[in-house]
Amino acid sequence: VTQLKPNPGAKGAGTSSYRRGVPPRSAGETNAATWEIVPPAIRGGAALPEPWKALFEPVRSGAVDDLVVIGQFGQSLDGRVATETGHSHYINGTDGLAHLHRLRAVVDAVVVGIGTALADDPQLTVRRVAGPNPARVVIDPHGRLPPTARLLTTDGARRLVVMAEGARSALPDDIERLTLPTQSGAIAPAAILARLAACGFRRILIEGGANTVSRFLVAGCLDRLHVVVAPMILGTGKPSFTLPPIDRVDRALRPPMRTHILGDEVLFDCDLSAQRLPVGVAKKST
Ligand SMILES: NC(=O)c1ccc[n+]([C@@H]2O[C@H](COP(=O)([O-])OP(=O)(O)OC[C@H]3O[C@@H](n4cnc5c(N)ncnc54)[C@H](OP(=O)(O)O)[C@@H]3O)[C@@H](O)[C@H]2O)c1
Repeated sequence: VTQLKPNPGAKGAGTSSYRRGVPPRSAGETNAATWEIVPPAIRGGAALPEPWKALFEPVRSGAVDDLVVIGQFGQSLDGRVATETGHSHYINGTDGLAHLHRLRAVVDAVVVGIGTALADDPQLTVRRVAGPNPARVVIDPHGRLPPTARLLTTDGARRLVVMAEGARSALPDDIERLTLPTQSGAIAPAAILARLAACGFRRILIEGGANTVSRFLVAGCLDRLHVVVAPMILGTGKPSFTLPPIDRVDRALRPPMRTHILGDEVLFDCDLSAQRLPVGVAKKST
């Protein structure tokens, strides 16, 4: 039996052309000069410069109502978002991670499930690119988030927890609490979005983990899904999606999608607006 071995020789392969001194050809390649225009342009309604327009114009606003909700996964070639032990830092490389930080920089709020908050202790700030920090939201129905979590750091960004009605939390008073009813232990994703909309958030990134993004997808609560596939095979580990079973391939979800090259990774930008249920203020027909 041939033993599969990691390939340390691959380190540095697929270096983006920017880092080789060649102008960027795609939105995935670092171009700090023009990128800086994008977050304020998206908020202010100004036109987006290329090469960012193709990728970020669709996240400016949604087709269904006044919200736009983006789910994201960084996954291996075999569809894993973490190892069996929950280790996921980092499946994506420099370009994929820069894309995640660009998404954070253009949204009003970034949402993670408590599983991710406990496993990764993420900061959820914008550090790899220019742009403002979004509000940080954790779905934590049972109040498990410790006050020491890094995403609770006081840095001017709003910090919110979504909890089940009646749950207790030991968090400081300056953490905003959104309490919602549960059904069989689950909080309806549409109800979470409605409360986030009432908080003033219009562009919302569901950053992970798989459990949380899958719930939003099943509930018809995503406008777009960004899946960044890294050139890596984990073999086993946590799968990206867990959806109700289907018996035939022709019943698979096949949303319209565009692909973008991010260095040596590939971004699949899926348009889920046909499945999206209205949650916010409906678009006026013209
Ligand atoms: N590769 C990537 O892009 C990526 C991104 C993020 C995370 N990760 C990895 O993914 C793993 C964590 O993800 P995960 O799927 O296990 O957990 P998760 O999605 O982060 O959190 C799931 C938990 O959040 C709560 N929750 C979320 N939505 C809810 C809803 N609508 N109603 C009620 N409760 C809700 C539940 O908490 P309770 O259990 O308290 O009921 C649920 O068990 C880690 O290994 C992390 O490293 C990978």
